[in-house]
Amino acid sequence: MKYKINNICCIGAGYVGGPTMSVIADKCPHITINVVDLNEERIKNWNNPDIEKLPIYEPYLGEIVGRCRNKNLYFSNLIKEKIQEADMIFISVNTPTKKKGLGAGKASDLKWVEACARQVAKFSTGYTIVVEKSTLPVRTAEVIKSILDDSQKSSKNSAPSKTFNVLSNPEFLAEGSAIKDLLNPDRVLIGGDNNDAIKALCEIYKNWVPEEKILTTNIWSSELAKLTSNAFLAQRISSINSISAICEATGANVKEVSRAIGSDSRIGSKFLNTGPGFGGSCFKKDILNLVYLSEFFGLHEVAAFWESVVNLNSWHQNRISKLITKKLFGTLSNKKIVILGFAFKANTNDTRESAAIQICQNLLEEDAYLVIHDSKVSSKQIEVDLGRKVLLDDLKNNDNSNIFKGGNWDFAQDLSCIFNNADAVVILTEWDIYKSINWEDVSRVMRCPAWIFDTRSILNPIDIKKSDLNFWQIGNGLG
Ligand code: NAD
Ligand code: UGA
Repeated sequence: MKYKINNICCIGAGYVGGPTMSVIADKCPHITINVVDLNEERIKNWNNPDIEKLPIYEPYLGEIVGRCRNKNLYFSNLIKEKIQEADMIFISVNTPTKKKGLGAGKASDLKWVEACARQVAKFSTGYTIVVEKSTLPVRTAEVIKSILDDSQKSSKNSAPSKTFNVLSNPEFLAEGSAIKDLLNPDRVLIGGDNNDAIKALCEIYKNWVPEEKILTTNIWSSELAKLTSNAFLAQRISSINSISAICEATGANVKEVSRAIGSDSRIGSKFLNTGPGFGGSCFKKDILNLVYLSEFFGLHEVAAFWESVVNLNSWHQNRISKLITKKLFGTLSNKKIVILGFAFKANTNDTRESAAIQICQNLLEEDAYLVIHDSKVSSKQIEVDLGRKVLLDDLKNNDNSNIFKGGNWDFAQDLSCIFNNADAVVILTEWDIYKSINWEDVSRVMRCPAWIFDTRSILNPIDIKKSDLNFWQIGNGLG
């Protein structure tokens, strides 16, 4: 093999960089891995001796970090030094939707990726393989290459000379199952135009991934396949969510419909769970990126097709909050609503684009008083997302007054006492602990007529029937 990798630097210690590098470190003890980030607080947390306090929550991550950290896995802010030492550099930084300027609201903001390319161009030494791990618009590798090529030209007269190859290696992990996905991926995708560089990256994955699961393509196919994969997954969710509305209108049950269609092996059973609308940092951003790309190439019908997936998702979130308001007699003033779950899905502390944000904001606009619980999301994060301050007072004093602080919210550390005097409970994240709540006990402390809104379809309607609660379940036309 022409290139042997001994030292990796990953720029970006986020939800992708942290878990991905931890797994590579665990499976490749012969490689030294440095994960670097501009964010000092984040790095401090990655180095926290208490593995419960790592900056992201992901099942099994703590054990792996505990095993590898400071052996062959290091977290630091030493960007320059670690780039200098590396044979291979992963760019794993954020690529959010642009907020202003050309392409605002759709195109990806590549300023962090460009900054990384410039840092690599400046600090790297000798031959370096640069790997795009971030999800990027098609042809971004060209931008990275041109920045790196320019640095090659300017370093011509000064030793040591620098050379690069750029590969695309998009990440397909899902949050909450990141370690499982990394250990046993459906496929690893590597796009590039230099066989030796591709081989060097393949060798790393071959330490635990069967060779037949490692797909190699040209660089543009690899970039596009990542966007397409997320667009297809999100499209399935919007499709089933649209059907949930038809089920509610007709008396059909979306779970039964999902089971029936999912049994067709051409359709398959995965990603057919209806919910409050897809969230997460990527689905919306990546589809909008595809929309932008289509428009850029004059493919307006294609752009409109994909944009409708995002539009349906927003409509669906608003549909849920409207429905709650209507069931509660058209007004939420002086009403206490318990929100169970704020993360965009279970088993993560990530709230980016969580459906809970839009739904809670809508309920607050209607003057509701919300008491929000989540197993892993902090009140500080909810405050950032809702843009309103937590009150944190009366809940602890066990205030049972019915005159609630309309348009405000409190955070509940646990489930004890939170149902007292509540008019409604809304389940927004499918955390396991919500599945074992005793609803008969809860119904005794709520204010009648009390409602349960199950947007994740995790409760058994038969259990609720034993209580005095009114029950609405997403996609359940007879619920
Ligand atoms: P993140 O925001 O959690 O982490 C990105 C990190 O990069 C941040 O800590 C930030 O401080 C750091 N950073 C930015 N610019 C830097 C620079 N110039 N030098 C050093 N550090 C810098 O993002 P994420 O969720 O890990 O996503 C990263 C990329 O991976 C995105 O393109 C995303 O679309 C893609 N992706 C994410 C997931 C996921 O589940 N979150 C899955 C697959 C792919
Ligand atoms: C998703 C993809 O699944 C990953 O393959 C991809 O790497 C990642 O995006 C990314 O590029 O960031 P993630 O967003 O972490 O992963 O989580 P998913 O499990 O895909 O869930 C996304 C959203 O869809 C969540 O809000 C979830 O609750 C919702 N969802 C998912 C449903 O409503 N129904 C389903 O059947 C599945």
